[in-house]
Amino acid sequence: MEFLLDTANIDEIKKYKEIVPLAGVTSNPSIIKKEGKIDFFSHMRQIREVIGRHRTLHVQVTAGDATGMIHDAETIREKVDSDVFIKVPVSEEGLKAINILKSKGVNVTATAIYTKFQAYLAIAAGADYIAPYYNRMENLNIDSKQVITEIAAAISRNNSQSKIVAASFKNVAQVNTAFEAGAQAVTISADILDQAFAMPSIEKAMADFTTDWESVYGTGQTINQL
Ligand code: E4P
Repeated sequence: MEFLLDTANIDEIKKYKEIVPLAGVTSNPSIIKKEGKIDFFSHMRQIREVIGRHRTLHVQVTAGDATGMIHDAETIREKVDSDVFIKVPVSEEGLKAINILKSKGVNVTATAIYTKFQAYLAIAAGADYIAPYYNRMENLNIDSKQVITEIAAAISRNNSQSKIVAASFKNVAQVNTAFEAGAQAVTISADILDQAFAMPSIEKAMADFTTDWESVYGTGQTINQL
């Protein structure tokens, strides 16, 4: 079970790597836009420095054709590092690029997945991660849970090494469902984590425990002061 952060914000990554058993960081051009006109490669290297080599870093290509995507991948690997998972949207040109990148042993995350068929093609091409877009599928009246269930079944039937990193979440329930449908990993924004811990019941439970404890041992007394 892997939790990745879908952000390029260094402060969020620093904060949540202390809280979540963080497996990696993903971004896309729309996420990069939120950071303003950053020095892209130096920013990605900084993220790598924060998360270390033992966590995965997924960086998306921006070219629209296979030749450009391969070139983007080479530049990312040269200017960031060769462990980066190159995120490639599964279009016709993207699939062509994935085939070439995998034949060269490059780490690949197949992204912008809205259909089972895109996922099956990416699995057959040997993509390391497959990123179905949970909320975006729901918006199109596609059954996201069923799509992930079928992708997971295909991975298992074919003894494939591909992992599902479900993406595009707007709430915690979607994340739970993605895992329960068979996703090995999810990539989520800091908002989702904030939602998860914003339940007043959690705060209330903690306050009640403190009140009960202090009613016995005195206000401000902690275990290590006994
Ligand atoms: C992963 O990195 C995806 O690109 C991302 O989760 C898409 O999310 P969105 O649908 O919120 O744009």
